[in-house]
Amino acid sequence: MRLALVGFGNVGRALARMLLGTRAPFTVTAIGTRSHGAVVAPGGIDVATILAGTDLPRRSLPAMRDLPADILVEITTLEPRTGEPALTHIREALGAGMHVVTANKGPIARAYRELDALAAAKGRLLRFEATLADCLPVFNLRRASLPLGEIRRVNGIVSSTCNFILSQCARGASYADALAEAQLLGIAEADPRNDLEGHDAAAKATILANVLMDADIRPEDVLREPLTVESGEAAIAAASAGARLRPLIEIERADKSVRASFACKVVEPLDPMFAIDGFSMGLVFDTDLAGRVVVQLHDPHVDQVAYAILTDLLEIRASASRA
Ligand SMILES: NC(=O)c1ccc[n+]([C@@H]2O[C@H](COP(=O)([O-])OP(=O)(O)OC[C@H]3O[C@@H](n4cnc5c(N)ncnc54)[C@H](OP(=O)(O)O)[C@@H]3O)[C@@H](O)[C@H]2O)c1
Repeated sequence: MRLALVGFGNVGRALARMLLGTRAPFTVTAIGTRSHGAVVAPGGIDVATILAGTDLPRRSLPAMRDLPADILVEITTLEPRTGEPALTHIREALGAGMHVVTANKGPIARAYRELDALAAAKGRLLRFEATLADCLPVFNLRRASLPLGEIRRVNGIVSSTCNFILSQCARGASYADALAEAQLLGIAEADPRNDLEGHDAAAKATILANVLMDADIRPEDVLREPLTVESGEAAIAAASAGARLRPLIEIERADKSVRASFACKVVEPLDPMFAIDGFSMGLVFDTDLAGRVVVQLHDPHVDQVAYAILTDLLEIRASASRA
């Protein structure tokens, strides 16, 4: 199948390397960026040559409906408040009859129901595994292993920056040093407020609630307790008592509504989140039929984002070849 990669930064380049390395059955026919150019080749782009260079030959991509591609891979910069430009890209691609895979939380947190309905109306697939926690199995777990029954509660760690800071503080680092190290390692943004104030976690909690628990909430509906210097001190106190402070999201069905929150909480050694240290992430699903299911992803890097996109692509390919 032919892929248009819109966004060719860290994730796009990691995906291109993985497509080459795994010889996955896809042909990249278009690549677009904001300010580093674009390239379109209906017969297939020489991805290795593009990876070795810097700017791309064309000024910009043609309109989505004119791209010679079956799947849009939307991996542009996150804009959490509006979801743009990704939201428009995804609407246009689905409208033009393409399948869509994205790692961008913005459009899924802002407009999941609309985009899901549009994909269904067009008979196309919309996949977004990488939006939650790199390749931690979440939505594909639901489809493959929890196809029946209700997910009643989800809790866990989806902010690797916050978890890294609390883990480092518990080992004796200062809050400022732990944050600086996360930035140096390229995990925390230069402006880390999106992570520390819990906006990123709130967007992920919204996606979990709306996709897995049939809710209709917005990121603003998620209660947030930001990470502060005092959280670092509380992490040290928890560690000296044999426990750990963790940045937890909790999403729970209460009567007919769904409540979601983000806050640092103490977990004891028998809690599944106790072992989720540093950049690792994990989730606990409490279900009516399957009981309690726990998933963990240890020390992910950008390749694990690319892997999640690749698994989505393979699922679309399998579905298209059955149709
Ligand atoms: N990095 C991770 O570990 C990770 C993990 C999970 C999810 N994600 C999500 O994956 C997406 C990509 O992340 P990244 O780390 O690859 O970001 P990045 O390195 O900043 O790259 C973003 C790319 O998007 C392009 N872009 C921005 N606006 C565009 C537009 N209007 N039209 C076309 N291209 C546009 C940029 O072009 P220019 O270079 O020309 O500006 C750049 O090529 C983000 O939504 C992010 O939240 C990332």
